Amino acid sequence: MFNQLQGVPPDALLKLIVQFGQDSNPKKVDLGVGVYKDEQGNTPVMQAVTAAEHIILEQQKTKSYIGPAGSPLYCELSAELLFGKNHSVIKDRRISVAQTPGGCGALRMAAEFINVCKPGATVWVSTPTWVNHIPLMCEAGLQLKEYPYYNDETKDVDFDKMLEALETANEGDIVLLHGCCHNPSGADLNQAQWQQVAELILRKHLLPFIDIAYQGLGDGLNEDAHGLRLMADTVPEMIVASSCSKNFGLYRERTGTVVVISSDATRAAISGSQLFSTIRGHYSMPPAHGAAIVETILSQSELNTQWVDELSVMRNRLADNRAAIASALKAVGTDRDFSFITAEKGMFSFLGITPAQVDQLREEHAIYMAGSSRINIAGISTANVEYVAHAISQVIK
Ligand code: LMR
Repeated sequence: MFNQLQGVPPDALLKLIVQFGQDSNPKKVDLGVGVYKDEQGNTPVMQAVTAAEHIILEQQKTKSYIGPAGSPLYCELSAELLFGKNHSVIKDRRISVAQTPGGCGALRMAAEFINVCKPGATVWVSTPTWVNHIPLMCEAGLQLKEYPYYNDETKDVDFDKMLEALETANEGDIVLLHGCCHNPSGADLNQAQWQQVAELILRKHLLPFIDIAYQGLGDGLNEDAHGLRLMADTVPEMIVASSCSKNFGLYRERTGTVVVISSDATRAAISGSQLFSTIRGHYSMPPAHGAAIVETILSQSELNTQWVDELSVMRNRLADNRAAIASALKAVGTDRDFSFITAEKGMFSFLGITPAQVDQLREEHAIYMAGSSRINIAGISTANVEYVAHAISQVIK
């Protein structure tokens, strides 16, 4: 049976991790996969996470099953983090929530759930979008359409074109939006634009599906949830997939959340039953540890404060790195303007260079980034910023 299989190339982003690890150049710089790094290039365990793990180790009494929806406390606290404690979708019990194996698990279970509601439904994704959105949606049986999003000339959101494309969507189509810190561009919708998109979605009876994987790494925990909350205020139904990989640094613990908002509490209970049954048919139930860490942090005020502080340090470092690389690129005297990097949010920006120049940076300077020229801003440091700027100026000459 296996003799007929064709080999599949490794995921381009994940391949960069291996390539970087094997590179013996002492000057190598990793601007590839979206993982937060400190000034030394490490991805440390957050102190609030370590403290929570000690508590869990001391207090955990069982490793029995937790059920398809995961931990109820985790689900409750995650929903509050996303929508705010007093949001009407929580008060009116219009949400069904499940803990998932990472943001990918949330996205995939949401896609499977959509496919149960409307088999083969069309999902509109931004051009560009996170590369893994495509298999996560398509392998669940959904069809993809694209709406223009990032304008490479203006280095900003092509908002008129985005609206123009979404005006052609059919009733019941799904619109996948990045809640904040757009991956891969770093270019986000502003508040007025979120409002316009929400009105369009409501008027055309579309379903918003918001992927929020970087809450807290753009402008702040509440600020980054502005679009999502505004959307939830506006529409009767919506889906959210969130991740604790970046803001809690729990990458390998696979901790995420899927939320389905229905029009009333009765329908929410039905949606939940369907969502949990979908989960049971895939992986039965999520792993417990990451969610136990998150609920311990979010439910204990001291740990919560510590986590918020650590997250602020990460967010500020990203903003400082944006300013540093933009100013280093100016200082080396390139004839291109890279100041747009400072206006973008979160972990990523596009340099706007060609795939050949990306290869040249890797091969000649040991600087690693995605083929699209997306850079992980966290990989910049005071030690490498001038080296990186100089190398970029060399390849774009
Ligand atoms: C990224 O975009 O680099 C991250 O979200 C990691 C991944 O899984 O692709």
